[in-house]
Amino acid sequence: MSIAAFPATIGAMATIEELKQEISSLAAKLESAAAAVDSSQALEAFRVEYLGRKGRVAELFKALGQLPPEDRATAGKLLNELKSRATALFTAREEELNRAVLDAQLERERVDLTLPGTYHPLGHLHLLTQVQAEIESIFLRMGFDVASGPEIETDYYAFEALNIPADHPARDEWDTFYIDDTHLLRPHTSPVQIRVMKSTTPPVRIICPGRCYRRDTQDATHSPVFHQVELLWVEEGLSLANLKYVIEYFVHEFFGPGYEMRMSGDFFPFTEPSVQVHMRAPGATEWLEIMGAGMVDPAVLTEVGYDPEAVTGFAFGLGIERMAMLRYKIDDIRVFLQNDLRFITQF
Ligand code: PHE
Repeated sequence: MSIAAFPATIGAMATIEELKQEISSLAAKLESAAAAVDSSQALEAFRVEYLGRKGRVAELFKALGQLPPEDRATAGKLLNELKSRATALFTAREEELNRAVLDAQLERERVDLTLPGTYHPLGHLHLLTQVQAEIESIFLRMGFDVASGPEIETDYYAFEALNIPADHPARDEWDTFYIDDTHLLRPHTSPVQIRVMKSTTPPVRIICPGRCYRRDTQDATHSPVFHQVELLWVEEGLSLANLKYVIEYFVHEFFGPGYEMRMSGDFFPFTEPSVQVHMRAPGATEWLEIMGAGMVDPAVLTEVGYDPEAVTGFAFGLGIERMAMLRYKIDDIRVFLQNDLRFITQF
């Protein structure tokens, strides 16, 4: 009996034997039809033909009513088995097809775990910024505030108010990058002393880290752009001994024990007396200058409206590059501004 002719025979089918034959022939068909399914369209056609509402299994169920009542339970059981088999075949093929699709996709989108990954390096603060932050934290612990001032200064704050009149020879050392007749890139952070004292009354206890500019020819120890930390403490009864203590304390905190410091006479128009401070690393023979310092000149205190009879003060200007070079044994100041990652990433 051909499958095409099959529906026409159903009406005539009257015995369970005939139905059993139909079932076994359909069962065999199912197996080969399922095996031939090779696409999702073919799978859908299989479902419609065998498992659909008007499909072949459903047609056989309809024939149940024509059987003698005592055969119907047996026939129903056989038909249910057929239906289960058809459903199982469908599900199995569906899974196989899905897996084939997934496999193809995985093959296409294959990830090669041996390829080098995309590297996103994390940045960090520049060594000078780190050192500046550490210096700030030491002085903050000692009760100093952090002040700041402009990098483009006026002649008045950079020189005049610091007791360096226009014709003073000391200007030679600091004469620097002028923007016009009265504005220049500041050659030191000392102008911030004036700005702070003019805007507040004693006691004054500040540090001011910042960038400075000088007409220096670049070499291993000089740079036209560099950084200083200015310190200023003005109060009743301060002396050079207090200055020495503050510096010693700082050197100890920043470098640790074993570093020596030495003070010797110097000259700055805005301090009197003036000193320069050298330090020496443990085991080293060379002394390195780290700052200029001194007691604030009475002329400067008067200029900002303070009474030099009532208060005294001291100040220093410390080179940040110097601090970093000493601590990390860097022998060339130029590396700080060269942006060479081989240097920068070491810290
Ligand atoms: N401003 C001076 C310089 O840059 C350093 C200094 C600061 C000296 C404060 C004395 C007091 O050389």
